[in-house]
Amino acid sequence: MKFFIDTANLAEIQEAYDLGVLDGVTTNPSLMAKEGITGDDNVRAHYKAICDIVDDKVSAEVISTDFESMVKEGESLAAIDDKIVVKVPMIKDGVKAIKHFSQNGIRTNCTLVFSAGQAILAAKAGATYLSPFIGRLDDISFDGLDLIQQIVHIYNVYGFETEVLAASVRHTMHLIKCAEIGADVVTCPLNVITGLLKHPLTDSGLAKFLADHAKASGK
Ligand code: E4P
Repeated sequence: MKFFIDTANLAEIQEAYDLGVLDGVTTNPSLMAKEGITGDDNVRAHYKAICDIVDDKVSAEVISTDFESMVKEGESLAAIDDKIVVKVPMIKDGVKAIKHFSQNGIRTNCTLVFSAGQAILAAKAGATYLSPFIGRLDDISFDGLDLIQQIVHIYNVYGFETEVLAASVRHTMHLIKCAEIGADVVTCPLNVITGLLKHPLTDSGLAKFLADHAKASGK
């Protein structure tokens, strides 16, 4: 299972990378705006800065919504660095753009996916990654994890190569359930990754080991 961090914050990306478990980064226009990154040149420079931290797989989202502009924008984003994966929304022109990119060797991440039908379309178009949003489905009383399970099953039945990238992951149980289901990738904020570390028995156990060692050493 791959871990992507879902942020445009360079310090958080560096922290996750330094932990040694990071496989990639996802961003979106809201996350870029949160970091105060605006204007074409700044956005491009920021993507480059992210690529300089991690080994591969940095999703950069197009903001165009028609085929021609998406292709132009996606090709321009892909030219920033070989590590870029072009993130494309699940709309009609987005599906066409994904097909175009897949035929031209540009990796894609199909985003804003909320149904199995959309997942089938994206796989048929040749998306590299598919991002179903778990948390946003949970927010409106649909079980986001059920969707991940359904898509993983369909992709396995047909041997689709598109990787299921569980997104909008809000807490550690989302991540653990995605692992049980067999999602290929999970993208989540830093606190979800570091949240996996936590266990009170680890903390109390370590405290006792250190105390016993100090006592035995006469400290
Ligand atoms: C995915 O790539 C998105 O950036 C992200 O996971 C959305 O998460 P949110 O619903 O917490 O905003």
